[in-house]
Amino acid sequence: MNVKTRVIKVNPINPDEKSIAEAANVIRDGGLVVFPTETVYGLGANAYDSRAVIKIFKVKERPMDNPLIVHICKLSELEDAASEIPREAYIIAKKLWPGPVTVIVWKSNRIPHEVTAGLPTVAIRMPAHPVALKLIELSGVLIAAPSANLAGRPSPTTPEHVIKDMYGRVDIILDAGETLFGVESTIIDVTRKPPVLLRPGPIPVEDLERILGIKIKIPAFARGVMEAEKALSPGVKYRHYAPDTPMVLVEAEDYSDFEKYALKVIEIAKRHSLKGLKTCILASTETRNYYIKAGFRVLSLGSRRNLYEVAKNLFKTLRKLDELRVDIAICEGFEEKGLGLTIMNRLRKASGYNIIRV
Ligand code: TXA
Ligand code: MG
Repeated sequence: MNVKTRVIKVNPINPDEKSIAEAANVIRDGGLVVFPTETVYGLGANAYDSRAVIKIFKVKERPMDNPLIVHICKLSELEDAASEIPREAYIIAKKLWPGPVTVIVWKSNRIPHEVTAGLPTVAIRMPAHPVALKLIELSGVLIAAPSANLAGRPSPTTPEHVIKDMYGRVDIILDAGETLFGVESTIIDVTRKPPVLLRPGPIPVEDLERILGIKIKIPAFARGVMEAEKALSPGVKYRHYAPDTPMVLVEAEDYSDFEKYALKVIEIAKRHSLKGLKTCILASTETRNYYIKAGFRVLSLGSRRNLYEVAKNLFKTLRKLDELRVDIAICEGFEEKGLGLTIMNRLRKASGYNIIRV
């Protein structure tokens, strides 16, 4: 692939309309634009143009059976992309959009089957980012977009990540700095009764249950502990978020005794370093000093008291890990509550299910 890529800097809060209009023209003409959202960067194309959509799969090296999310900028567009819209989708749309939640609903005939990988359903969300909203609005179409990483790599949360994976493959990269949440949207399938969580994200499932007033089913694959059935969410069967460095995830029943947990992590790390492996520990702020004192290299994920910080640092840290060129990473686990579920889903996949329970 050898496309001339233009990187255009835009102000994330008050973007210059002229630059976005240029990118919107590229979308309308069947080209590819990487754009910021509040979660991660997206690799966008005109959702109504199957040829443009096929380019996304080629450029990302993504299997064609893994469907894309359709991004909209106003509520009425939900009805352009969907044919039948369950009540729960409207509630989420009204209370949480624009925002980091994607709903799965029945698709309309206007959406080509390449977008949904032949499924009768479609994933839709309205991103809470001025640049993304303006781009959709000015393009006059809906924008199909996966995360703007090469398939299998951690999702991009900074322009540097995007440039590394997408330069020379897309027409325009809109650079609006680091994204806010750093993990991809929460995905909920509201075509099922009860609704099913397909991917935990920035909006905790507990919040969705409160807003909808019903229990949401959390299948094992949404926790990241098992490969999914294809029928539920095609994407989950692929390797995800993985750093090139092999990673072991150390899970505990209880993380509240920091010292006790850290000593167990050190024991595991020593087992690897005694074999002559260069070992790095991915740690929370609460425990990092134990590892530094024990002589280990540490990458900080953030505080256990602020899981938004951990989520935001997660993919960035996985990419940083590969730059260290160590032989193995030992990664701390987090309690599976609220955003902890989102973090554990990503970490379990990033470890390739290489998990030690202590
Ligand atoms: O925050 C996000 O959601 C970002 C930004 C760019 O919007 N997008 C993103 O897209 O993470 P992607 O393609 O990396 O992940 C979308 C996931 C995939 O796992 C895919 O399998 C699933 O959504 N998906 C899409 N359509 C689906 C459908 N009709 N039924 C079930 N799962 C679906
Ligand atoms: Mg992705």
